[in-house]
Amino acid sequence: MSNVLPTSRVSLVTGAAGFIGSHLVDRLLELGHHVVGIDNLVLGKMANLAEAGRNPRFDFRELDVNQAGPCLEFLRGQMQRQPIDTVWHMAANSDIQAGVRDPDVDLRLTFLTTFNVLKMMHELGIRRFVFASTSAIYGSLDAVLKEDSGPLFPISSYGAMKLASEGIISAAIERFLECAWVCRFPNVVGGRATHGAIYDFLRKLRANPSELEVLGDGTQEKPYLHVSELVEALLFIFQNSRERLNFFNIAPAKGATTVRYIAEAVVRAAAPGAAIRYTGGSKGWLGDVPRFRYSIEKLRALGWTPKMGSNEAVDLAIQQNL
Ligand SMILES: NC(=O)c1ccc[n+]([C@@H]2O[C@H](COP(=O)([O-])OP(=O)(O)OC[C@H]3O[C@@H](n4cnc5c(N)ncnc54)[C@H](O)[C@@H]3O)[C@@H](O)[C@H]2O)c1
Repeated sequence: MSNVLPTSRVSLVTGAAGFIGSHLVDRLLELGHHVVGIDNLVLGKMANLAEAGRNPRFDFRELDVNQAGPCLEFLRGQMQRQPIDTVWHMAANSDIQAGVRDPDVDLRLTFLTTFNVLKMMHELGIRRFVFASTSAIYGSLDAVLKEDSGPLFPISSYGAMKLASEGIISAAIERFLECAWVCRFPNVVGGRATHGAIYDFLRKLRANPSELEVLGDGTQEKPYLHVSELVEALLFIFQNSRERLNFFNIAPAKGATTVRYIAEAVVRAAAPGAAIRYTGGSKGWLGDVPRFRYSIEKLRALGWTPKMGSNEAVDLAIQQNL
């Protein structure tokens, strides 16, 4: 164990107007933190920050983290008022298929955002970094995925750029970071979603309430975690894991959910009677890992246990996105 202090009072959240970022902002504010948020609103929405916006301990600026000049100017102003001690880096490209069509999207939004945020932190003297990583770094390993599983050969540019991000974080530890927390999320669901199967299915059914087209054959099966539990896990890991480089899988209490389950549940809730048409094939799209099993023994050993199972998280998220 190192001597890192587990407390943080002033946090910067990148990607603050996004799905996960906005829930994290709300929870940090609830816990009494001062929060500075940055988002370029490419995927995020100001509506996600409606509640946070009314809190005097929250400051937001629409900025692209890849543009160092304006970001440093804004953050220097913030640092003069109160030093930021921790960066929660949530900004990335969350549209995995956009990265399949054009890998430059993931280079810029998934890797360079991490690289550039670390450069700014070095310049500003901020030395704690919490990172939103992903199960996609493991590629299609046919095993229960543990934190030290390998070799790591991602099959999407998104996964590759997240893995490269983990690499540059490790190098930044050597160079200047006091501590980093690399948290590998599974599929995350809940209110304010900006993407994902539930979001896509609801959007498609609004456009055509009589038929739902589903990519793949419906047998893809993954663990889904509710965003409320993800945020609790992030805070728990941040407060309780004190290595210089902390890395954890996060997943629901049990099980995984098939795409067929999600499609049928969305149809029942939003357009009963709609026909479901599967496009076929075991993968939803190129770069999709059709099924994976996640070990969270390391997180359990640290003392955090999720409460909701995967299907339960999906059912709740459908209601929250209707
Ligand atoms: N949702 C999931 O299932 C999931 C799973 C694994 C990992 N993650 C990771 O969690 C993080 C949050 O994901 P999310 O689901 O909330 O996605 P999201 O798209 O809702 O949030 C990402 C936010 O980052 C912002 N952003 C992107 N590029 C930016 C830039 N250059 N400058 C400033 N802001 C920028 C977007 O506008 C968006 O608001 C991401 O890093 C994502 O890769 C998400």
